[in-house]
Amino acid sequence: MAGRLQGKVAVITGGSGGIGLATGRLFAAEGATVVLVDLDEATLRAAVADGGSAGMHHQVADVSDEAQMRGVLQATVAQHGRLDVLFCNAGTEGRIAPLADMPVEDFDRVMAVNVRGVFLGLKHALPVMQRQGGGSIIITSSVAGFKGAAHLAPYAASKHAVVGLMRSAVLEAGNTGVRINTIHPSPIETRMMRAIEQGRAPGAEAAAKQMITSRIPAGRYGTADEVAATALFLASDDSRYCTGGRYSVDGGMTAA
Ligand SMILES: NC(=O)c1ccc[n+]([C@@H]2O[C@H](COP(=O)([O-])OP(=O)(O)OC[C@H]3O[C@@H](n4cnc5c(N)ncnc54)[C@H](O)[C@@H]3O)[C@@H](O)[C@H]2O)c1
Repeated sequence: MAGRLQGKVAVITGGSGGIGLATGRLFAAEGATVVLVDLDEATLRAAVADGGSAGMHHQVADVSDEAQMRGVLQATVAQHGRLDVLFCNAGTEGRIAPLADMPVEDFDRVMAVNVRGVFLGLKHALPVMQRQGGGSIIITSSVAGFKGAAHLAPYAASKHAVVGLMRSAVLEAGNTGVRINTIHPSPIETRMMRAIEQGRAPGAEAAAKQMITSRIPAGRYGTADEVAATALFLASDDSRYCTGGRYSVDGGMTAA
């Protein structure tokens, strides 16, 4: 049986991270040609080798740099002939500190990666997909795109901001066949939550995790595979009438 992404070409930023790599593996298993994009060549190589799939490729790029982001998308079209899916998923939690102690440089860096990176993805993917007559752009926001996050103000601001980018892009894309949606995960078992637990309670990470988990009705963190499954839905033609949506993958966390 043909995979749900057979013949499609997908670029995934943050591709060697927890959610990005899980999604890359799932997309490749569903027949896509996948280009993982991340900062470090060696980590990317290991991720692709570990994926064990013929359909996985990689490119090193910093999503906050316009020339690099444009270059990734141009190279993908040159090498693979098209661009059907862009998963704007690279992200950083930034420094964990009260607003009053947050250096402005940390605010700027979080915005550069989490917001400018998504802006650049939209800016350079939309024209390619519009010329092709369709495509799907998926942006990883967060529960922190709906609610505040104490000691993570720049992160929460960045995850709200990408909803504005998504909605504006939907209005510009109109009926061209290009769809744009955001995914809003709760805490997920990846490096990022280990860093947040450590930042919230140095030396008492298990207690921090327990406290965070107590706010999730499902009673646990999600997994990268559970986020990847929603990304697959949004990347595939199963979601052909879905655009402008905000998809929670959060064990009920935002129900409260
Ligand atoms: N883990 C969670 O609990 C959680 C919850 C909600 C949303 N998210 C979001 O999910 C996305 C993926 O995070 P993850 O949980 O897989 O964490 P992760 O740290 O494992 O992965 C993030 C990846 O992004 C890459 N990255 C960072 N800056 C980059 C840049 N400038 N250019 C290119 N790549 C860059 C990192 O190298 C890393 O591989 C992020 O946008 C994050 O904010 C995560």
